Amino acid sequence: MKYERLLTPFTVRKTTFPNRIVFPPVQTNFASADGDVTDRLIRFYRRIAENGIGLTIVGATGISPVSRLGDHAFCLYDESKIGSAARLFDAIQSAGSVPAVQLNHGGRAMSLKLAGGQLVAPSAIAAPASKNVPRELSIEEIDEIIGQFAHTAENAVKAGARMVEFHGTHSFLLNQFLSPLSNQRKDRYGGSTENRARIVAEILEKARALVGDDIVLGLRISAGEYIDGGMTVDECVKMVNMFTEKGLDIVHISAGGRDSGGRMLTEASKGNLIRLAGEVKKKVKIPVIAVGGILRLDQAERALEEGQADMVAIGRALIADPELVTKTLRGREKDVVECNACLQCFVPGPEPGIICAVNDDL
Ligand SMILES: Cc1cc2nc3c(=O)[nH]c(=O)nc-3n(C[C@H](O)[C@H](O)[C@H](O)COP(=O)(O)O)c2cc1C
Repeated sequence: MKYERLLTPFTVRKTTFPNRIVFPPVQTNFASADGDVTDRLIRFYRRIAENGIGLTIVGATGISPVSRLGDHAFCLYDESKIGSAARLFDAIQSAGSVPAVQLNHGGRAMSLKLAGGQLVAPSAIAAPASKNVPRELSIEEIDEIIGQFAHTAENAVKAGARMVEFHGTHSFLLNQFLSPLSNQRKDRYGGSTENRARIVAEILEKARALVGDDIVLGLRISAGEYIDGGMTVDECVKMVNMFTEKGLDIVHISAGGRDSGGRMLTEASKGNLIRLAGEVKKKVKIPVIAVGGILRLDQAERALEEGQADMVAIGRALIADPELVTKTLRGREKDVVECNACLQCFVPGPEPGIICAVNDDL
């Protein structure tokens, strides 16, 4: 069978993904101004999920009112949002895909306005991209943020998510803690690899206690930052192995982020993010999701065949054509509307919500 590896189900804890194809987290900004699920947000995810996607990870949602990345970002930190979120996760589940959500705090990399006028980070070091200088978080505040990640995970599970992914890459708060470039704390949350990783370890422990044993806990982490002195594959592996002891089930490998400009996407287009995932996979004991630059199913199948990953995520190519997988499986590759990597999806338009240059029906 063509695409045999991609189409083989995969079980983690008690969840069976019907295949190895993942829609990675994408911040659509399609929710309402107060973070509720909208019909547009549901339609966006349903169309992708129902077209042959085994795991659909809803894009970064904030863990508190001052952590979200978009003014129309989907929110889950407040229990009053569980009913709204349930509509979204139900739609994904009914479409035949496993519903998951990514949880995030933007830290120093978010906009001052969405942060409530004060950026926070592990250390008071300016964000390279914006030059904004954050305030160093106190131990009490770190404890509060750990609780907020765990509590939002619990809300997600109550709303029907079967997997929660913590966002530890792309220059956001957890990445800021993990990286020696942005974390120069002298207390137990900074310094050694173990100390920089502590916040994620504590989130995993606290979240596991709240969500129980059946839920899949994931982490998206950087295997490189494209800045001298940043995270490396070796340090990423060391941290993933530590997190595995704390209950991490699956790891999603990315690299770079806001601090290194568009480098993550140029590296993705060269296939280099998939290769990084392969390097990590050789040295960790849990399943690996690879992502970056996949435009066709044969590329995804090859990543599995070469042992680079256990699951493969396809982002922009599914925004460009939500039917990429089903069209390909039915022998209609020629009808696939291909992503041209123009990066229009990263450029804010006049209205809230992402725009795609080759798909005007988002
Ligand atoms: C519009 C847009 C929004 C994104 N939002 C997120 C996000 O919320 N969280 C995240 O970890 N990655 C986010 N990403 C990165 C994607 O998940 C993915 O890693 C990246 O696009 C590379 O994969 P691709 O080449 O298949 O698109 C976003 C990407 C795009 C295009």
